[in-house]
Amino acid sequence: MIISLKAILEIAEARNIAIAAFNVTSMEGIQAVLGAAEELDQPVIVQFANAAHKTYIPMGVIGPVMMAMADRAKVPVCVHLDHGSSFQEVQEALELGFTGIMYDGSELPYAENVANTKAVVELAAQYGASVEAEIGSMGREEFSSAGGSDEEEAVEGCYTDPDLAAKFAKETGIDALACSFGTVHGIYLHTPKLDIERIGKIREKTGVPVVMHGGSGISDEDFRKCIEQGVRKINFYTYSAKFAGELIRDRLAKETGNVYFHDIAVWGRESMKKTYMDTLKVFSNLNG
Ligand code: 13P
Repeated sequence: MIISLKAILEIAEARNIAIAAFNVTSMEGIQAVLGAAEELDQPVIVQFANAAHKTYIPMGVIGPVMMAMADRAKVPVCVHLDHGSSFQEVQEALELGFTGIMYDGSELPYAENVANTKAVVELAAQYGASVEAEIGSMGREEFSSAGGSDEEEAVEGCYTDPDLAAKFAKETGIDALACSFGTVHGIYLHTPKLDIERIGKIREKTGVPVVMHGGSGISDEDFRKCIEQGVRKINFYTYSAKFAGELIRDRLAKETGNVYFHDIAVWGRESMKKTYMDTLKVFSNLNG
């Protein structure tokens, strides 16, 4: 069953949990996300980061598959565009039926980010979709958020300012806000050190659900603390792809006979599903 980003975040708010937002780049990935969510009976967001992943599969190919599979799912699912960077991309996702759009104008000057985000909110409303936007910057993948180096300062300088975030949320009418408080995309070079208090301040001042990007590599304890402070959507991808890759590498090293791609695809799918189930248990606060 497909529902909007706003509706799925309302479920998160009512239950004091965070909805997992897993990126997909293949049909096996979509099966892994929906299979994990159905097995645990949890709502989930399946998302496509067109800018980063279009080289693996175009949105015009994977988008209709995401929609068809989400439609048949036994749990509430939001089909979401991750890090939309142009109106054309946003329009394409909306035409495909996506029910959530992230517009990422975080690298633009403030006024331009506000104007573009507002335009995306108006466009998405015509399709019944809701909008996540970003203020502050998650930093480059190479920057670690801890370690006491110059890199730490570089990232901390980009942390989301709660007052500016409140102004941004009011001026744009967004449904969710992606914030910078110490997470980065991809592999962490050092143990991440999160500014968890900042999340509470942002949540209180903006009145909208907070989104954490860069979930891979964050400890379960930190996830729980962030959820307590108001994080309601957590983006997670790199570790599921990494663990699946490592499992395939190890199994191939032991294979002596013929190896078929369809089997490799299934190994990858099952590994990703396991990672997603482990993750969903933490985000949904399930025991065991
Ligand atoms: P990771 O790949 O670091 O888990 O982050 C995913 C993400 O934030 C997508 O927007």
